[in-house]
Amino acid sequence: KKIAVLMGGPGAEREVSLVSGKAVLEALLDLGLDATPVDVTTTEIHLPEGTDLAYNVIHGTFGEDGQLQDAMERLGVPYTGAGPASSKLAIDKTLAKEKFVAAGVPTARSETVALAPGTIPTLTISAPLVIKPPLEGSSVGIQIVKSQADLPAALAKAAEKYGTVLVEEFIEGKELTVGILDGKAMPIVQITPPEGVYDMDSKYPWLSGKKGSEYQCPADLDLETTMAVQAAAAAAHRALGIEVYSRVDVLLDSENRPFVLEANTIPGMTATSLLPKSAAAAGIPFPELCVTIAELSLK
Ligand code: DAL
Ligand code: MG
Repeated sequence: KKIAVLMGGPGAEREVSLVSGKAVLEALLDLGLDATPVDVTTTEIHLPEGTDLAYNVIHGTFGEDGQLQDAMERLGVPYTGAGPASSKLAIDKTLAKEKFVAAGVPTARSETVALAPGTIPTLTISAPLVIKPPLEGSSVGIQIVKSQADLPAALAKAAEKYGTVLVEEFIEGKELTVGILDGKAMPIVQITPPEGVYDMDSKYPWLSGKKGSEYQCPADLDLETTMAVQAAAAAAHRALGIEVYSRVDVLLDSENRPFVLEANTIPGMTATSLLPKSAAAAGIPFPELCVTIAELSLK
């Protein structure tokens, strides 16, 4: 089969995607598969003639938000991962939140806030809180607001770039993530950022030149907590109707209660990425993970 590995994309996560894409491409080539890189720079895709499978490794805008999935459906080309409907739900933190709440998936209290430059909205949630642009990944545009005094400036800053934000209660605790393959939760990865904040710098030290986070997989949690976190992650994946695979980010508070943040339908596949760590702990090495995603997508 001819596989086109789609990477890059026009969004804020372009550089991350190029690294993820290269890792997938190399894994497929090492296995002797017929894989070709396609660097996508706009929302137009030109696939090599006779492509049997579009292997999508474009994070965020266009690749993860349903646009690429819509285009592939139109072209009739099989592609990896989630379909258009679940992609559109998962990428949008406000829509996903509604689904989580409706399905009883544990998640932090939140509100969706419309922003306009020059006006400061009144919130029902008070600091500490987190302001998130609804349609980004890799911590792009995220602000953690520790005190109420900092809130107006944070909202004003958000309003410069975003018309709507999700405001979420800040959960103090452990940062966890769970790989989901074929609907099943794999071992939990625990993330320990150097300065306590898992932001773009500590996610991608090879991009930022800063100190990276530390990771432990399986996370050091008791059995009951492990099962609760995995159940919450699998429930989040199901609530959004995600096909094939995802990586669900979860916070664990000081009383060991899980709170689902979001499900990523095109999670990072770089050397420090977390879905590969979760899969490795499940006995699935990176090349096998790449192939399994392809096979499940073609089913
Ligand atoms: N959005 C990044 C790539 C991730 O979720 O891994
Ligand atoms: Mg994300």
